[in-house]
Amino acid sequence: MVNMSIQSAGSVHLDAIVDVHTQARTAYYRAGRLPQAEVDDPGGPMRRREGWARCMEADEKTVLCALHEETVVGVMAMGPPLRPETDAATVGELYQIHVLPGHWGRGIGGRLHAAFVQFLRATQLRTGQVEAWEQNHRAQAFYARHGWKPDGYSRPGPGHSRYVRMRLRAPAV
Ligand SMILES: CC(C)(COP(=O)(O)OP(=O)(O)OC[C@H]1O[C@@H](n2cnc3c(N)ncnc32)[C@H](O)[C@@H]1OP(=O)(O)O)[C@@H](O)C(=O)NCCC(=O)NCCS
Repeated sequence: MVNMSIQSAGSVHLDAIVDVHTQARTAYYRAGRLPQAEVDDPGGPMRRREGWARCMEADEKTVLCALHEETVVGVMAMGPPLRPETDAATVGELYQIHVLPGHWGRGIGGRLHAAFVQFLRATQLRTGQVEAWEQNHRAQAFYARHGWKPDGYSRPGPGHSRYVRMRLRAPAV
């Protein structure tokens, strides 16, 4: 996509990031047939706002956003693994990646993903880790196209489905 830039996210982007996240999750939960009541979650936007703000403030975490003509059209967060049992010396985690639904399929997710791979290389981490909702087939296909594979771990998720974990072996430089 022309006129698109990836930059470090700041508090000025916070409201737009929450909106991108809310729209993207609504789209994939609906596509995965999660009951509307569970998709809506009234306290969700406020919780997500706090989560993104905490992530931006944490020194060890990175939040990047994709801007198209000054509009936030995508966002990604990454850093050390969230679960303490995962080896932080070798694994970097992709916490979130979301693109505004009207902008899917234009390479924005790919650009954000490339920034994650760059992060693995720059920090000499061998493995990437991400969790995806089992019914989110688009995201899993996106990850698979970029070389990710399920590692067999899963945990309960919304709608009687699970979150599946995928891993990426960082490409050699
Ligand atoms: C998963 C997600 C991040 C992918 O982002 P995206 O911007 O659509 O990804 P890309 O555009 O890079 O790649 C997707 C498709 O567009 C194609 N594409 C890539 N660059 C393109 C370009 N410049 N022009 C047209 N198409 C392009 C890719 O080939 C791919 O096509 P395919 O599905 O037919 O193989 C996005 O769909 C999303 O936000 N989903 C909802 C949130 C979500 O599920 N997040 C992950 C939670 S685990």
